[in-house]
Amino acid sequence: MDRLVITGCKPLEGEARVSGAKNATLPILAACLLTDESCLVRNVPHLHDVTTSIALLSGMGVRVTLSDGMGVEVDASAVDNVHAPYDLVKTMRASILVLGPLVARFGEAEVSLPGGCAIGSRPVNLHIDGLTAMGADIRVENGYIRARAGRLKGARIVLETVTVTGTENLMMAATLAEGTTVIENAAREPEVVDLAHFLNRMGARVQGAGSDTLVIEGAKRLHGTDYEVMPDRIETGTYLVAGAITGGRVTLKNVRHGTLDAVLAKLEEAGAGLAYGEHSITLDMRGRRPRAVDIRTAPYPAFPTDMQAQFMALNTVAEGASTMIETVFENRYMHVQELERMGADIRVQGNVAVVRGVERLTGAPVMATDLRASAGLVLGALVAEGETEVDRIYHIDRGYECIEEKLGQLGARIRRIPE
Ligand code: UD1
Repeated sequence: MDRLVITGCKPLEGEARVSGAKNATLPILAACLLTDESCLVRNVPHLHDVTTSIALLSGMGVRVTLSDGMGVEVDASAVDNVHAPYDLVKTMRASILVLGPLVARFGEAEVSLPGGCAIGSRPVNLHIDGLTAMGADIRVENGYIRARAGRLKGARIVLETVTVTGTENLMMAATLAEGTTVIENAAREPEVVDLAHFLNRMGARVQGAGSDTLVIEGAKRLHGTDYEVMPDRIETGTYLVAGAITGGRVTLKNVRHGTLDAVLAKLEEAGAGLAYGEHSITLDMRGRRPRAVDIRTAPYPAFPTDMQAQFMALNTVAEGASTMIETVFENRYMHVQELERMGADIRVQGNVAVVRGVERLTGAPVMATDLRASAGLVLGALVAEGETEVDRIYHIDRGYECIEEKLGQLGARIRRIPE
């Protein structure tokens, strides 16, 4: 397994380009199943999760062609099976996103249940209940979700919990249903909005994206289109924290700041100066140590759970103490023990972590446990004295395109040691 070796204690200074958003790319690729015409998806990041998505679609008979650099052409005109096997789904829970499109277009699907994952139990009951409300007959047998349906029917669905991929699955299914579907308590994440824009470009009629009520008027068929995926707001946030934690000055290009308000507010509270270009952000810490910031994660537009580990790293070296509350996933503090190995002072009780800022972290061998936890460790390493070796970085490669190259452009001393 590849490792990253980072020599810390250097204020970052430099410029890097943010990639297309992983969490927008994955549902958009799945949405290509909704039409028999070809779709061109641009600004697709080069990530393990995207490779997994492509493998999943290819296994169903979808023709996926990589075009110039960051474009992917998807042609689902010759789908010959509707099976999403356990082997792929277990490596990427977002594989569940094929369920809605398959049932809507082909009237059947067989998708492995994702099973547990490191950050919590993460059930998919709301995906299943929503499709059932739209008339699908769904059974869970032998570890698989087996769904059958005639043409789906529009329904009023009230989601009991805000779920991002749940909202996306049901929104995609509803685009081909007969009649109108209303999804209440829908996720408002920018990636849900990006997917809605893509669907509308395919001829769907989705209204209300970005609010908590989606109204989708079903169409008989959708057509091909081309679309540029939005920039990754979590990657943006992660590299901004890299600048802040090291007391540095970084500029990120290809960003959409309107999707990052809660994160930017916390960076300012930590003492960062922020300057905005049309598609860029510059963060300047002017050599100062960050101030501790309290964090409470919640669905968008509140502070994202996917940025919690990175801000915990920031808080470990900040001036003062902070309270962090994780309300979205029940087990998302796996980076705590690893940060403690680097000298952090963190107490966790249930979903609350109290972090007391220390003067310095020290380099140590640490292990990546999940995608965002690993990002937290890399950030800690950037400010730690000496060398940190981060093992099992395949977790990072799932969601950060060429992390060592981009952090290198920002001035970090980081190298990848291939297995
Ligand atoms: C998505 C993101 C992930 C992010 C998360 C929360 C993608 C590919 N992944 O994950 O990066 O961390 O949103 O912002 O976009 N829940 C249920 N029943 C369900 C579905 C969800 O109880 O049927 C619960 C979950 O256990 C969790 C909460 O709802 O506590 C939110 O999860 P959800 O929004 O579904 O996360 P994902 O869509 O899997």
